[in-house]
Amino acid sequence: MAAHNHLVPVSLLVGLFFFLAAPPALTCDAGDRAALLKIKAGFQNPGKFTSWNESTNCCTWYGVKCNPHDNGGRVTYLHYSNHGAASDGLSGRLPDELGDLPFLSALSLANHNVYGVLPLTLTRLTRLSFLYLPSNSLSGALPSFLTQIRSLTFINLSFNKFSGLIPPEFSNFAALETLALQTNNLEGEIPSTIGNLSKSLLPLSLLLADNMLSGNIPKELLAANWDTLDLSHNKLTGDPTALFAANKATTYMDLSFNKLEFDMTGIEFPVKLITLTLQNNMITGSIPAQINHLSTLLIFNVSSNQLCGIIPAGPVMDRFDNTHFFPSKCLCRSKVSCV
Ligand SMILES: *[C@@H]1O[C@H](CO)[C@@H](O)[C@H](O)[C@H]1NC(C)=O
Ligand SMILES: *[C@@H]1O[C@H](CO)[C@@H](O)[C@H](O)[C@H]1NC(C)=O
Ligand SMILES: *[C@@H]1O[C@H](CO)[C@@H](O)[C@H](O)[C@H]1NC(C)=O
Ligand SMILES: *[C@@H]1O[C@H](CO)[C@@H](O)[C@H](O)[C@H]1NC(C)=O
Repeated sequence: MAAHNHLVPVSLLVGLFFFLAAPPALTCDAGDRAALLKIKAGFQNPGKFTSWNESTNCCTWYGVKCNPHDNGGRVTYLHYSNHGAASDGLSGRLPDELGDLPFLSALSLANHNVYGVLPLTLTRLTRLSFLYLPSNSLSGALPSFLTQIRSLTFINLSFNKFSGLIPPEFSNFAALETLALQTNNLEGEIPSTIGNLSKSLLPLSLLLADNMLSGNIPKELLAANWDTLDLSHNKLTGDPTALFAANKATTYMDLSFNKLEFDMTGIEFPVKLITLTLQNNMITGSIPAQINHLSTLLIFNVSSNQLCGIIPAGPVMDRFDNTHFFPSKCLCRSKVSCV
């Protein structure tokens, strides 16, 4: 989310700069133009790509941006998010010719009716950093060849129909900061290698919610230092307590709607958490007093577990009414209400 929000203002600023400075218009590279026209032809319902007219400069086409700096006129950015119904958007498979835009750094086609598999030709995009294709009908296995794109920092393939296992090779991304695969049909265990995604010092974001992932969360993943971790709405089992440590950088943790079993009594939660949602698991024990150190906590839910004991009164817990705790096995607000 953050990376996406970031991309928009930067591109707007770049666009505004060239509008104001009015330099000679960038001339479209002939090879890029040919590729774009084939991409347009590859979609049955070209939507706003009808504005892609071969007698005009492709750097001015809807959704296209060219890099004004070192590679004047080369297409670096293809961005078309459909804001209507998916059926109003592009329809068809991702054309192989997407691989023929060698300077592309951002490919963003959200909320269309794009289906089929990811084309192998994407591996030719050696400058691609931002791959944003959520809310389409892409299917098949997640291809491990994506890791050959060494420049990728951000992937969002959420709300598609990808199935099968998360490839163990996904630990081999060179520079990935965000991997969002929410709401697909992924199944099986999370590969233990995925903990190695976070081999950089930077805390990363991993969003795997709403799939059919099962088994224990691998210890390598538990040990890693995530910024954002969303594993909610899966069938994960076991004890994830190694995820929690006061000094981890995690700001967002959603483990809700799984089958996780652990005793919360002695847990120290990452103190930077803003979201901590653990409802609908099999958590036992009581809520630790340390939770009142999470001064930025805004979104919290531990209901529908097996928790007992007194909710520790304090500046953080006092923010949340009973709907954040109950039903529970035997939690209570005070000693008086406990008996
Ligand atoms: C991925 O895309 C979906 C659909 O647009 C969005 O809801 C989600 O926040 C995105 N995730 C990230 C990490 O950008
Ligand atoms: C492309 O634009 C030119 C000039 O505006 C116009 O005359 C021509 O009909 C357009 N071609 C198509 C295929 O839309
Ligand atoms: C993870 O990375 C470490 C250090 O680079 C390496 O030694 C280890 O073999 C990797 N583990 C997996 C499962 O890829
Ligand atoms: C907490 O989770 C429970 C169980 O899923 C849900 O009913 C409740 O509305 C949630 N509370 C809040 C404040 O979101």
